[in-house]
Order: sequence, then structure tokens, then C-alpha cells
Amino acid sequence: MAKYLRTDAENGILTITLDDPDASVNTVSPDWVTEMTQTIEAARDDEAITGIIIASAKSGFMAGADLKFILGEMQGMSAQDAFAFSQRATAMHRALETCGKPVVAAMCGFALGGGYELALACTHRILADDAAAVVGLPEVNVGLLPGSGGTQRLVRMIGVDKAMEALLEGRSYTPATALEMGMVDQVVATDKVIDAARQWLATEPDPTRPWDVKGFAIQQSNGLLKQSTAGIFTMVTAKLRSKYGDNYPAPISILACIFEGMQVPFDKGLLVESRHFAHLMTDPVARNIIRTTFVNKGLAQKGARRPDGFERRKVGKVGILGAGMMGAGIAYSAALAGIEAVLLDTDQATADRGKDWSRKVIDKLVARGKTSEEKGAVLLDRIHPTTDYQQLGGCDLVIEAVFEDTAIKADVTGKAEAAMPADAVFASNTSTLPISDLAKAFSRPGDFIGLHFFSPVDRMALVEIIMGQETKPETLARAIDFVAQIRKVPIVVNDSRGFYTSRVFQTFIHEGMELLREGVAPELIENAAKQAGMPVGPLAVIDETSIELPLKIVRQAEAEDPSYRRPTSADVMERMVDGLGRPGRKGGAGFYDYPEGGKKHLWPGLAEEFPVAESQPDVEEVKRRLLYVQSLETVRCLEEGVLTHPADGDLGAVLGWGFPTWTGGTVSLIETVGLETFVEECDRLAEAYGDRFLPPEGLRARASVGEGFDWS
Ligand code: NAI
Repeated sequence: MAKYLRTDAENGILTITLDDPDASVNTVSPDWVTEMTQTIEAARDDEAITGIIIASAKSGFMAGADLKFILGEMQGMSAQDAFAFSQRATAMHRALETCGKPVVAAMCGFALGGGYELALACTHRILADDAAAVVGLPEVNVGLLPGSGGTQRLVRMIGVDKAMEALLEGRSYTPATALEMGMVDQVVATDKVIDAARQWLATEPDPTRPWDVKGFAIQQSNGLLKQSTAGIFTMVTAKLRSKYGDNYPAPISILACIFEGMQVPFDKGLLVESRHFAHLMTDPVARNIIRTTFVNKGLAQKGARRPDGFERRKVGKVGILGAGMMGAGIAYSAALAGIEAVLLDTDQATADRGKDWSRKVIDKLVARGKTSEEKGAVLLDRIHPTTDYQQLGGCDLVIEAVFEDTAIKADVTGKAEAAMPADAVFASNTSTLPISDLAKAFSRPGDFIGLHFFSPVDRMALVEIIMGQETKPETLARAIDFVAQIRKVPIVVNDSRGFYTSRVFQTFIHEGMELLREGVAPELIENAAKQAGMPVGPLAVIDETSIELPLKIVRQAEAEDPSYRRPTSADVMERMVDGLGRPGRKGGAGFYDYPEGGKKHLWPGLAEEFPVAESQPDVEEVKRRLLYVQSLETVRCLEEGVLTHPADGDLGAVLGWGFPTWTGGTVSLIETVGLETFVEECDRLAEAYGDRFLPPEGLRARASVGEGFDWS
């Protein structure tokens, strides 16, 4: 008895209905491949069967492999195992398309990854004209490639240009676009998919695939200039390399599959694909991406860090104090999730402007066809701008986002407490002030917590939840529930200077300025950071937020904490701000010049202020310094208990400040390098550049006994 599918034969037509009893979505798994293989072989040998329909009992047709399963498979997988893994699925698909009977994929909804590869191995593809129906091969997004023949069939079916786009961009295509691209053959109403499949089979179509007919030629590229195919591939490879460097092998491997596969017969092409697939499966990049941005992100949203024993609660009404950049964004995110949001500021006009921010976001979305006027209007109706604290009555949660000033924050906290329900949670969106200090302005410090959003709030998924010294576990549970409710990703940290994200990110910008102080060419610093995968160079980033800000943080730390060690990069900031009057972009000049109407560029005067040394370091060394310094600080946060789980370190880094996704985050980077090698390298860097590179003792101890981080 099969588990993952049902079969039903009627009038010579075999219907295979995919229906995983343990999940809401059909996914690819080795057992499913076995069942499919047996079913196909039986159908091939059964003369009474003249055609096959593959359908699904779920609302979607099929997704690819479950990423959690893939991650598990990757542990300790050899390239040989990975090759065999791909070849088994490939053989099943090949058996399907050569079984001598026409096969229709009757797709009632989405068919993605391995699900769409199955459809590609069918003779004919029918897709439901449904709002949720999409097809595509998104494997590139997780550092992989379609390993069941997808790269070979798509190129042969729709031609090089279009296949290259679909495979390298990993997009999902709506029914209309998929039809236009040739990715599906028919689009019909959802309830007509099976009828259409039967009708097509009734025409007694030839089951032979075009590439199995002698003389078949792949559609050559026509949209891409008048170059030879080899020329195009060289050009695209160069483009991909300049975009990803050597950091992200999947796009290059996909291109190689297409190019090499085009030179050989179809079956050889399938071998080429499996070989490249095996390489990506055993390379750490895909594992890192999948572990952090899919598996651990999903677990965080489901409440991996949520204390047990508290009922899950929903927020019906939220109060937001301060309708500035952050308050406005938080109100939008809450309203988007169906929550009533009171948006309070000192005067009505400012509060109204906070609501207008949402209006502008919605207008843009409507213009791009991403939402409707009606839905936008409903969302806007949920935002209530006001100056009246009494409106906070009935709120389950109040979030403070006023100026970064302890006295102002204390004032609004007291006023809010008098008006809000006695069991509501109070949260501060402060980016730098200790939560335990702010909690002093609230009579129930156990119900006080930090909810640190990132800007722009509508686009940034991360929320850093900060536990004050007295914050109750129940308050944490409620904060996590709220973050999940607004569909963002929570990480949980304990109170400390700069919390986790700001603290670690500071090390990146300080290292950038330290390099400058040492005489490293500014262009080299900025380019090395980008080549390492950081979204922006450290000098450009400081300019954006203002050089005054990190300088203020350093000075404050010096004043408050006698054990604080002033970074030498502070000299650079003082020179820029106090000496040269170049505080950053807002001040009109910083490390960069901002000519009116022109493009910003590094300030030529930097070379005079910070003379460029004659001998310049290797770019790899600069990249290493800029990334390792962040990983080291993350480990310190783990060892000091600021972070309680390595997954939070990774997620905060990737989602919070754009630490390169391919590394999996600041902790995963260390595991990829290998703890022992990382410690050795850091000892060397410490010797050469300073104690900030000295590995923390816990890390050294782990490395010495060959132990990894504790992910349990
Ligand atoms: P902002 O200056 O854009 O907005 C602050 C708002 O608070 C203003 O509209 C102001 O009128 C209002 N306000 C000031 N005093 C008030 C009072 N007594 N009662 C009511 N409203 C009052 O500032 P922004 O950027 O939105 O920051 C707000 C908070 O969020 C700060 O604590 C900041 O550190 C934090 N934060 C900022 C981030 C950013 O990227 N800007 C990121 C994460 C946190």
C-alpha cells in the first residue's frame, strides 16, 4: 500500500493522486520516489492503461523537498551520496517520461521546485487559473539547483533565454506568465483541471518527448545580442561572478548545467546536473542558507525561544507612543496584521503625518498591483492618530518609540501607564538605552520589555526582543506572540550595552575606521566589505547614520564604564566630526562627498588625513578582518549570556544588518571555517592588529576539544 499517493484506474486512464497524509503540502522524499517508481513501472507494464493523470488531493500540486528534511540529509552527506540521491529521483522522472504512455500534470495550485520538476517530466502540463497557483524552480534561492532533471528539461522545453531567467532568478510564475513562457501548456479554471486532462488524453497524443526524437535541437538564444551561445555563457558567467564573487556557487553551477547539458545528449545532461547538484549539496553555502533563513527562521517564528506554560495570546489593540519614522512603521505592520493601532504624538499634525506614512506605502503597493484600494482603506482605518492618552484604554500592548532620551521616555511611560489596562505589556523600541533602566519609569517592571524594530519597519523582518533584569517570562511569551502575529521574526537577547545587533554591528564599522587609520586605501576597505558580502561598505554605512552616533556611544561608554576600552577608531571619528566638521551624510559631508545632483564618492581629502600606506594588505585579509570581528563579538555575546542560542546570533546578523546570507550568519561562519582554524586565524589577527581579535576562552576551549556550538 502506498502512503504518499493513491491510484485509481478508469477507462484505461490511471490517475495518480498525490496526498501526503502527514502534511498539508505534498513534498519530495525518498519514500515518495520509491512509491512513484513502483507505480510508474506497473503502469508501463499494464497494457490496459493508455494514459496517466498526476493530480493532488491538496490545495497545491506539490512543493519541492521539505527543507528541514534536506538539511538533515546534508549532515555528513558525501558527494557520492548526494549524487545517488539526485540520480534516484532523476531515474524516476525519466521512467515516467519514457513509459510509452502520455502523462498529464493536472496542477490544481502551486508546483514549485521538485513539484514543478515532476510536471516537467510529464508529456503535458495543465495549471489551474487560481490566485495561489504558481510554478517555478526556486532552488537557486537556497543555494541549490533542481536536481531531478529540471535544468535539462526546462532548457529543452522553453529555450535558453527563458530557462536561464527562470533558473537563475528562481522566480515563481503566475498562470498567465507561465503559459506565455511555455512553462505550462494550458491554463483552465480550477474545477476544470481534471476534465481538461481527460480531454487532452482523449486526443491520443504521442507520448514521445521532443528531445527523444532524432534531430532535436535546443532553441538557441535569440533575445541576447547576436553572440554565439558560448559568448553568451562567458558573458553571463562573468556577470554572475562580479555579483556573487566566489561566495555563492549555485548560479554558476546552474549556468554550467545549462551550458554543459546543451553540448551532450539528454541522458548525459542528466548526469551533468546530478554532479553539480552533489557539489552544491555538500558545499556549506546551501546548508548555511537553509539552516538560518528557512529552518531556524521558521522555528523562531513558531516560538523556539518562547517560555513554556503560557497560553498563546493575540493582541487586538496596540498603542504606539511617537509617530515618527519607527512609530509610523510599527503602526503599519500592526494594522497589516489586523490589529487596531493607536498612534500617539505630541500634536495632532505629527500624529496624522505618522498615519500618512502608511498611506504612502499603500499607494505604492496599489500602483504596483500588490494590493487593492479597498484592502488599503481597511488597513488605514485601523490606524488612529491622536494626542490623547485615554485612547490607550483597552490596549493589550503599548510600544514606546519617542525620541532616544531617557527623561522623555520616562515621561511618556508614566502617562501611558495611567491610561492603559493594568495587565497590558509595555515595550520600548529604544536602540541604545538599557531596558532595565527604562523599566524604572514603569510600576510593573515585570511587564516591561524591549521590542527593537529595524528601519524601514515595513520591510525589515527582524525584531530584537530584549529582556530587562525584571522582565517576567510571561511578558516574553506575549512579546513573542505579538511578533509572530505581525509576521516578523523574533530573536531574544538579554539587556546589555547595544543589546546584540547594535553591539556586533558596531565592531564592523569600527574595524572599517581602524583600517583607515592604519593607512589602508578607503576604496579597498569599501570594496573588500562588499566582496565579503556586506550590503554596504563600513565608511558608507557610518556616513548614513552619522559619524556622531558611534562617537556618542563610545563617549557614553567611557563615562559610564571604567572597564570600557576605547577603540582606536574613535580617533578617526573625532578627527572627522570635531576636527574636520564632516559628520556624515546629513551634515552634507563625511567619508564621502555628496555633490548636489551628483553621485556620492569617497572624499579625496581622506588620503591626506589618513595617509595611504605604501604597502597595502591583500583583499582577503581585509575581508577576513571585517567579517571575523563580527563573529568574535557574537561569540562574546553568547558567552556573556546576552544571546542564549547560536541560532539567534545568526538570524540577527543576517536579517538585522545584512551579514552575508551565504555564511548562514556570524556563528555559522565560524563553523564553516572550522572552530580550530578560526581560533588560529584570530590569534594571528590579534598578534597583528590588536587584542579585539583574541578569541574568547569558551570558543578556544570548544575548538581545542573539537566541539561545535550547542544548537540544541
Ligand atoms: P523620530 O524622531 O522619527 O520620531 C520620534 C517621534 O516621537 C516624533 O514624532 C516625536 O514628535 C515623538 N515624540 C517626541 N517626544 C514625544 C512625547 N513626549 N510624546 C509623544 N511623542 C513624542 O525617531 P525614530 O527614528 O522613529 O526613533 C524613535 C525611537 O526608536 C528611538 O528610541 C530610536 O532610538 C528607536 N529606534 C530607531 C531606529 C531608526 O533606525 N531610526 C531603529 C530602531 C530603534
